[in-house]
Amino acid sequence: MATMKRFPRKDTKMKRPQNTVGWGKERTSTFAADKDEVVGVRSSPQPTRLAENVLAILRELLPERRPIGLHEPRFGDTEKALVMDCLDTGWVSTAGKHVEQFEQELSEYTDISHAIATVNGTSALHICLILAGVRPDDEVLIPSLTFVGSANPITWLAATPHFVDCEAETLGVDPARLERHLEEIAEVRGATCYNRRTHRPIRALMVVHVLGHPARMVELAKLARHYHLTLIEDAAEALGSWRGGLHTGSWGQLTAVSFNGNKIITSGGGGAILTNDPDLASRARHLSTTARTPQTRFIEHDAIGYNYRLPNLNAALGRAQLTRLPDHLKRKRRLAEAYGQAFATINNVQFQLEPEGCRNNHWVNLLLLPDAEHRDVLLDAAAEEGILLRPFWTPLHQLPMFHDTPRMNLPQTLELFACGVCLPSSPDLPSRDANACGRPNTP
Ligand SMILES: Cc1ncc(COP(=O)(O)O)c(C=O)c1O
Repeated sequence: MATMKRFPRKDTKMKRPQNTVGWGKERTSTFAADKDEVVGVRSSPQPTRLAENVLAILRELLPERRPIGLHEPRFGDTEKALVMDCLDTGWVSTAGKHVEQFEQELSEYTDISHAIATVNGTSALHICLILAGVRPDDEVLIPSLTFVGSANPITWLAATPHFVDCEAETLGVDPARLERHLEEIAEVRGATCYNRRTHRPIRALMVVHVLGHPARMVELAKLARHYHLTLIEDAAEALGSWRGGLHTGSWGQLTAVSFNGNKIITSGGGGAILTNDPDLASRARHLSTTARTPQTRFIEHDAIGYNYRLPNLNAALGRAQLTRLPDHLKRKRRLAEAYGQAFATINNVQFQLEPEGCRNNHWVNLLLLPDAEHRDVLLDAAAEEGILLRPFWTPLHQLPMFHDTPRMNLPQTLELFACGVCLPSSPDLPSRDANACGRPNTP
């Protein structure tokens, strides 16, 4: 993205960039004090004026049709042909050639040895957590700034999410602050890490590649090894995202991806577990197919398993979409460049750039505003025009079912939630293609 300006950032404080456009006022940050408060600007421009400036850019870049969704799927003849193949042959359910072929093609694309297709990304994460050995009363380190589907399967195992903060550049877990937090609260006894405060084992670290931006995996993998934590990557949003030439999912023992209707490619609903470990792969396959023993006359199962296998119909759609992924990546990069250039022309907003050393998929583009008031005024104004913008997910530690969970201070999570607005990012934008057959779909 040679044409896009990168705002220089010092630590995680967002400062007015030198010699370029960006924040109009220096932001006060509670970060250094590590307080759990929302950060804002000392004085800020009129929210309605800023919203109008942002909307003027969106009107200019986006097609005239309304409504415009956040991320709409894009299909063509290949999708129709492969789905029809399932209907014509009657192979619509969990057996059928497309499932295995989809798995093989995913493995080839990501260069990760094994892919096991599942009914969605959440079920893939559930199996990852089981295979990580997560048990009742364990804790799993997980960012608060993620979709609830990352945390729910932890609780299905009667374990507890332990929320950690993210950082501004990658939006992912902040390795430096996690290291300080673990120094303070964790100790390793034998081959198990314990939370000294709660006395519970901390079994795993789940890293999320938020909006397709690869997290700092080298540092996080080192930390996980040091504390004997199984590393799980939630790459639900990050198919087509690379760090240092490696696809997301290359560092964790286990990774989950999603093919929900709002993702960069979709199988309707669907997901996959990725791993380089053959033993974990075969256990994942076994558990996700109701733990059925090799087929004989009798239908037998040797463990409590799950009916998580992706149906052939969805796999067929997923295969067709996978052939489209390189084109989607190109289109989305073009859109991100257009957004980056356009938003560089106005003050008091910051467009989220690709992290250093990464090639991300630009799944959903992010704009940062001065504070929550500016965010809300913009969301309302855009909704009135039929343009769907979205705030970040409400941080998980603020949801009622997670109120009593352990956590570190989360200032960056709160800041991103307060200031972040997700922009329309469908692969058919900004082309004004009247024939595109995508339909609105919300995350
Ligand atoms: C970060 C993240 N994790 C997990 C999931 C769950 O995936 P699915 O909806 O396929 O269950 C999603 C998306 O939907 C997600 O965005």
